[in-house]
Amino acid sequence: MRLTDQQKRMLDGELGEPVQTAMEMLKALGDIYGAEELIPIKSAHCAGLSLKSHGIAGMEWVEDMARKGARVVVPTTMNVIGVDRSRDLGLPPEWVEPQLRIQRGYEAMGCYGTSSCVPYYYSFLPRFGEHIAWAESSAVVFTNSVIGARDNREGGPSAWAAAVTGFTPCYGLHLDENRKGDVLFKVTAKLNGIADYGALGNYVGKMIGERIPVFDGFQAPSTEELVYFGAALASAGGVAMFHAVGITPEAPDVETAFGGRKYEVIELGEKELEKGYENLNCGKSRQVDLVALGCPHCSLKQVRQIAQLLDGRKVHDGVTLWVHTNAAVKGMAQQLGYAQTIEAAGGVLTQDLCVVLSAPELLGFKTLATHSPKMAFYAPGGNGMDVWYGDEKRCINAAITGIWE
Ligand code: F3S
Repeated sequence: MRLTDQQKRMLDGELGEPVQTAMEMLKALGDIYGAEELIPIKSAHCAGLSLKSHGIAGMEWVEDMARKGARVVVPTTMNVIGVDRSRDLGLPPEWVEPQLRIQRGYEAMGCYGTSSCVPYYYSFLPRFGEHIAWAESSAVVFTNSVIGARDNREGGPSAWAAAVTGFTPCYGLHLDENRKGDVLFKVTAKLNGIADYGALGNYVGKMIGERIPVFDGFQAPSTEELVYFGAALASAGGVAMFHAVGITPEAPDVETAFGGRKYEVIELGEKELEKGYENLNCGKSRQVDLVALGCPHCSLKQVRQIAQLLDGRKVHDGVTLWVHTNAAVKGMAQQLGYAQTIEAAGGVLTQDLCVVLSAPELLGFKTLATHSPKMAFYAPGGNGMDVWYGDEKRCINAAITGIWE
């Protein structure tokens, strides 16, 4: 990979050890993927910040880098962590303390301590065509597919290295030729709400691997539906970008999405939608003890909808209801009274964390109900929980009755 004089000086250690370490990572990555050069980025999003991903060794490494003067040089947001900084959810101190040290280490390097997977909902919205280095698969698929920014599916270390140097290797989705569709999906299923989009995304994710799917036939999905659809594709498969015809800026029509390539056509009807639901449901006992919503983190619209479903009702004894969001949305929800409605019903509007990246298994939960396709996909393996998957109404009813109907 060709380096400029400035980049060579970074690699030689003239700008200090952290920048040299970061440049070594980027050089190795660029060489592996055959990148010809490093390109400047406009923003970064660091992920893999949970104690589950970092471990104690990772925590010490972050602190060491911060002590040695590592500083981000582009606006850099932080992904979800494993604790709620605003309250005690009962997680053990041996989990909470190292997790907070990881958070503080990144903040010391100049990252915004946003602790959320949806930074694009507030202030950190990339623009069309911008090169960025974001980790967090659900955010990557959204920025590429809905906004048209250019982002590879970065891992935590490569996003950090890009944030500290301001560069990323130019390969993959940074290049026009790699952003064209591979398979056309004709959507005939009637989709209504994020759970339907999530189930269909899971079904396609499982079969598509890392290829780029093109969807024709969506009926004006909401932003949240696109977010959950992308999260499902990116968790069940390795998808970093999809085209939704008429929505993705690079896909005004089917032919443009494929850029002249030949493609196979697959229909997505009610049968495929049903199969997606089957994939995500692995519950055995109908009795649920945890209902968790908001993976990716809830928007204000979603928090209001959940508050409306809970208004005047009470969460069942023995059931915990977590609604995951970030400090920004939670602050607005408190101003507007939605948070109080959720809490009066016995639910908890959490900030900073999510089931997958925290450790609810340490609190003894066994059976989870959720509307989140990504959480439903990871919780059985990652948290050892059985899962029921369905829409918000069904999940809230489970929270109120303690039973998945
Ligand atoms: Fe976000 Fe955690 Fe889900 S990071 S996408 S809420 S697994």
